Amino acid sequence: MSKKFYITTPIYYVNDKPHIGHSYTTLMADVLARYYREKLGKDNVFFLTGTDEHGTKVAQSAEHSGLSPQKFCDQTSGLFKKAWKSLNIDNDDFIRTTEERHIKAVQKIFIQLKEAKTPKGNPAIYQGNYEGLYCTGCEKFITEKELVDGKCSYHQKKPEKLSEKNWFFRLSDYLDDLKKKIELNEFEILPTSRKNETLGLIEQGVTDFSISRETVIWGVDIPFDKTQKSYVWVDALSNYITAIGYPNNLKEFKKWWPVDVHLLAQDILKFHALYWPALLMALDLPLPKRELIHGFFTIDGRKMSKSLGNVITPEELVKRYGTDGTRYLLLSPFSFGQEADIKAELFDERYNADLANGLGNLVSRVSNMVEKYLITDIKTEEFDIKRDKSYKKCCQFIEKYKFNESLKEIFNIISETDRLIDAAKPWELSKDQNKKEELDFILKIYVKRILLIADLLKPFLPQTSEKITEIFTAKKIKKPKEPLFKRI
Ligand code: MSP
Repeated sequence: MSKKFYITTPIYYVNDKPHIGHSYTTLMADVLARYYREKLGKDNVFFLTGTDEHGTKVAQSAEHSGLSPQKFCDQTSGLFKKAWKSLNIDNDDFIRTTEERHIKAVQKIFIQLKEAKTPKGNPAIYQGNYEGLYCTGCEKFITEKELVDGKCSYHQKKPEKLSEKNWFFRLSDYLDDLKKKIELNEFEILPTSRKNETLGLIEQGVTDFSISRETVIWGVDIPFDKTQKSYVWVDALSNYITAIGYPNNLKEFKKWWPVDVHLLAQDILKFHALYWPALLMALDLPLPKRELIHGFFTIDGRKMSKSLGNVITPEELVKRYGTDGTRYLLLSPFSFGQEADIKAELFDERYNADLANGLGNLVSRVSNMVEKYLITDIKTEEFDIKRDKSYKKCCQFIEKYKFNESLKEIFNIISETDRLIDAAKPWELSKDQNKKEELDFILKIYVKRILLIADLLKPFLPQTSEKITEIFTAKKIKKPKEPLFKRI
């Protein structure tokens, strides 16, 4: 593990509003960033997210809403920023591909690509004709094989026939090297099933891809060809390096690159696991250390989509469950990499059981008893939480991206503490003058356990963790007037 940690999420398309799919990825990144800030120090972590704002799809959406593309992008990009604020996402930067800093950098990248030679000595890019089926939803050409009932399976839309002159990237010349790096985990793709899927794609044969577009109006100009704009994916993927200073501020860039974790879901695996590393090779830059591919989730067994009307937004969840309640409901049920189905009707039940009755109740119960019965002072600074075996276990889970396991461990400590209290019955000990010392002793154990819980919850439920720590490290511990989580 290096001494720095750079993590990214995909930059989200602005033609969609933020929903819980985007929120899940961003939350996972936030948990890791918060965890590593504690471990490596705040200045050694960089967490990047942002919005992908070019391409035909965005231009079309802008037209539909009667706005200029830039106005439209400003608006929706703002919605993402607002959503991340409501979920208490603590990103270090938010890049927008329509920003000057990015556009200028992408243009320099194009010039570098034009000068680059492949490992086989060929020019890395070349001009060619492209004819094919193009899905504006995916912003990519798709093959007949990929169609389901003549439509793109992701967007349920018929692709358009396109024929145009483009610049192509000679991906084929990089595949042998890339394959080796993937096999040796020099460029690690997790979970292994996704690594195998990527190797499978290489095995089946991947063709060169076009990196410019003639028909696109809303995009980055190619500096050496006035007839063309950048293919939106080259523009978008570059954000991971332009945001940290490439190519203008190489000192800053080298502080963070190679990225430690690119987080994404399987829908954009091919771009991240094949196109992006090959482009980096052409730029003579190191490959990402690791890509983490999480599963897609469905709502009640169905794909989340505007047309099905089952889109859940982070705002509606935050309104009902609060920021940390939402963070908990989205982070706790899934094992990393698995596809999962969200059952929204179970949200209330889990919120009440785990947060209101579990964690919230324990906090109010223990603070109440301590307020009433404790005689001697608690020296909380003497608790060495980091030596606790659960602490180590939770760290290991987080470093293996098993957030649900870590949360399970924390909630086991909560229920175990409740059981300890029920068995010891402190309220009865309090009636016996000879049991005062014993009572003092066990109350301190509860406080220690609660502070451990608060510490472990820090990356997941930061506000709750802070509140609990404040209550139990105060000079005089008092039961808070408001419950941590109101029952629904
Ligand atoms: N703009 C591109 C990414 C460019 S990155 C250089 C894009 N944007 S997107 O808005 O469609 O976001 C896709 C990503 O959003 C997925 O890879 C995933 O991280 C997240 N998710 C979107 N829907 C999701 C689910 N239903 N479930 C889980 N994650 C989801 O692709």
